[in-house]
Amino acid sequence: MAETVILCAADEVVEGEIKQAPLPDGSNVALYRVEGAIYATADMCTHGEASLAEEGIISGKIVECTFHFGTFDVTTGEPTGMPCEVALKTYPVTIVDGQVQIEV
Ligand code: FES
Repeated sequence: MAETVILCAADEVVEGEIKQAPLPDGSNVALYRVEGAIYATADMCTHGEASLAEEGIISGKIVECTFHFGTFDVTTGEPTGMPCEVALKTYPVTIVDGQVQIEV
């Protein structure tokens, strides 16, 4: 069953940075702002044990994992550059009273 999780204030998610936020299951999500909208993906790179919030670089809608320079489109989760081949999990984001919420 879907559960709504409140992650942080929307204004904490700024263009050009990656915001990490915890989930109830102990994993993390990474939040990005792209052209004004907020997107959420799993924080862990699907290629290895790298936190995208800590190790990644966001440029437009593409996050690069600096461990092996793989890339993903954060708006879809799809891998866009080798060696990443498995999509990141993505979460629908809603903003309620200025807070970022996702369904998990
Ligand atoms: Fe991210 Fe290898 S761990 S590209």
